[in-house]
Amino acid sequence: MNRTLLFVGAGARTDSWINAFAEVAPEIDFQPYEPGQDVSDVPYCLAWKAPPGIWPAMKNLKIIFGIGAGVDRLLADSSLPRDVPLVRMVEPELTRGMVEYVLWQCLFHHRKVWELEAAQSCSTWRPHSYPAPWDRTIGIMGLGELGSAAAERLVEFGFTVRGWSRTPKSLPKVESFFGADQLPAFLSKTEILVCLLPLTADTRGILNAALFAQLPRRASIINAARGGHLVEADLSAAMASGQINAATLDVFETEPLPPEHPFWSTERLYITPHNASITDPRSAAWRIAKQIAKFEAGEGLDHVVDCARGY
Ligand code: NAP
Ligand code: GLV
Repeated sequence: MNRTLLFVGAGARTDSWINAFAEVAPEIDFQPYEPGQDVSDVPYCLAWKAPPGIWPAMKNLKIIFGIGAGVDRLLADSSLPRDVPLVRMVEPELTRGMVEYVLWQCLFHHRKVWELEAAQSCSTWRPHSYPAPWDRTIGIMGLGELGSAAAERLVEFGFTVRGWSRTPKSLPKVESFFGADQLPAFLSKTEILVCLLPLTADTRGILNAALFAQLPRRASIINAARGGHLVEADLSAAMASGQINAATLDVFETEPLPPEHPFWSTERLYITPHNASITDPRSAAWRIAKQIAKFEAGEGLDHVVDCARGY
């Protein structure tokens, strides 16, 4: 049985993946891709960004595994075969890391840490006020694997939580909104907006001036999804006008964020380098091996992307 898993990680911690498969899934023949390699018999591929032209050469491909939860980069390649199942990454460490990031940043914005930084910078003892968590409304765009787990944790913490998705959802103590018609109602009371949407044709550029104008004045934005969701110039203008008071961005249209980008020096704009959460190779290797075993036993795969929908 050919169990080759070709790894086209493009800088995605190759050694950790080699060690992870050796340790938890030795039955898988894990092969980092070498330029020029004959890939015609490869049945399985694990990819983040694939080198141009590689897909048509994999003539016996049976499953493509995405290294990340988001598959927008893979789907952007028109040569990616649409008739081979594309499985996105869902694993508990990735979810836990994102929940931790969202909680950290929501508390940061809730407590307005920049006011403490300003006071400390001039050695001033200046107690500032902030509401109880239940008097703070946090809105999460995207109530999928990550958004729903983050919402659950924020509810446990006592925040007033609302969520927005494409289809209706029912989550304990989360006021849920869905579809374009309900977006304005969702935004109207959201003081801290967290974006955890997939990047698709429908969601590209959704964090724009029109959306910011529908939030309460001096709201905060946290984008942990994709840079393509945000119209960067609109955020700069909304922060300059005071409509948006503060932001945390983990993802950018261009990554790494170029040194000359104005975001680096925008007050109350906090930058993390696309590491809100990272796939854990050991946990992922174990899950990929299980999925391959299921496939070989003729069973269905989990977390298969609907390529037409884009997530
Ligand atoms: P997911 O399980 O597929 O959930 C996506 C959610 O977005 C679903 O609730 C879906 O609604 C909603 N959605 C999609 N299109 C929509 C639309 N047009 N209008 C309203 N709602 C829409 O995805 P996930 O695993 O939670 O991951 C979300 C994203 O996080 C990924 O795509 C990736 O870009 C990003 N991410 C970033 C990092 C990082 O380190 N920064 C790490 C991991 C993931 P339905 O449920 O109704 O379909
Ligand atoms: C990271 O950005 C992911 O999509 O998992």
